[in-house]
Amino acid sequence: MSLILGIESSCDETAVAVVEDGGRVLSSQVASQIARHAEHGGVVPELAAREHLKALDVVLNAALTEAEVGLAEIDGIAVTQGPGLIPALLVGLNYAKGLAAANNLPLYGVNHFLAHIYGAFLPDRSDELADEANYPMLALVVSGGHTNLLLLHRSGRAEQLGGTLDDAAGEALDKAAKLLDLGYPGGPAVQRAAESGDCKAFHFPRPLLGQAGKAVAPENRFNFSFSGIKTALLYTVRDYRDRGEELPVADLAAGFQDAVVEVLVRKTFMAAREHGVKMIIAAGGVACNARLRSELENRAASGKFKLFLAPGKFCTDNAAMVAGIGYHYYLNNPEGSVEALGMDAYARLPQFSEVPFIRDVK
Ligand code: KG4
Ligand code: ZN
Repeated sequence: MSLILGIESSCDETAVAVVEDGGRVLSSQVASQIARHAEHGGVVPELAAREHLKALDVVLNAALTEAEVGLAEIDGIAVTQGPGLIPALLVGLNYAKGLAAANNLPLYGVNHFLAHIYGAFLPDRSDELADEANYPMLALVVSGGHTNLLLLHRSGRAEQLGGTLDDAAGEALDKAAKLLDLGYPGGPAVQRAAESGDCKAFHFPRPLLGQAGKAVAPENRFNFSFSGIKTALLYTVRDYRDRGEELPVADLAAGFQDAVVEVLVRKTFMAAREHGVKMIIAAGGVACNARLRSELENRAASGKFKLFLAPGKFCTDNAAMVAGIGYHYYLNNPEGSVEALGMDAYARLPQFSEVPFIRDVK
């Protein structure tokens, strides 16, 4: 039995978790800074860094208490290295380095994007990673920073099928919420407003789906573009304001959400059919969205695809997904390396063609 402590600080959540053997989540504590950033309408990196610094000790202690373990029982520390906001990442990274050095524990840097994928295997589903029958696997990663479709093979090879050409899905929802005065963060606010709206009242464009007689360039078949939907919303809102009419916020939110979800779902299943996919996973903050989840579930059932949606609390930023990956790195290199104490944070997603936790899983 091995216990990995995960630390996450890439954006506006300070999170610490303890995970046993890559799957059993003994604790997952998340301190959200949303209230601190809401007045600015988005995340302010320097403010996020200061808040992480204030929160880390408290969140660490809460995670150890919830897991009923002490630092002496921890076998390794995994920390988000990037992508994310550099000032925010540096706080978590340096905190983890200090903790690792002081307690003589191995330290592992984790890629936040891959950690989101791991969220679909929590809790207690990590055995699925080793099952040949699940591959090739299609991953839809939708968050505030990413919108990607990846084909994952049992060897660990990862093929990038597509990504966004402009805004990420979550970013588009956040901006839509701002236009509709729904506050920050936008995704949950749009979802809430949409509940009482009619999604057919407005029809927003479905970019890169090849509708309205427009063919999609082959290289864009699995790419996404959300800026056109956002601009269409902007013009609609402006027209209402120019006419001095009250905004039909619920209908607009429902129509916008519907357009984003339809594009995500149709491209996902197009890719799944074309690539002989056995299993589809969806992860990242936007994968919390109730409409997206139900559409994916309906279509997966009728297409006989196995579907794993990351549970809500492992969709948005958390440290259990970081600790989960950390376990696989620990198995591969239980002593760790002294170089880890010198590792740097990175802002952008590096090009990668392999998912190490799949490659190495036994
Ligand atoms: O994964 P995450 O917590 O952070 C990033 O790595 O970006 O994702 C945050 C994003 C935000 O854009 C937020 O608006 C969106 O996820 N989000 C949602 C929902 N909950 C969070 N979008 C749609 N529906 C939701 N229920
Ligand atoms: Zn994230």
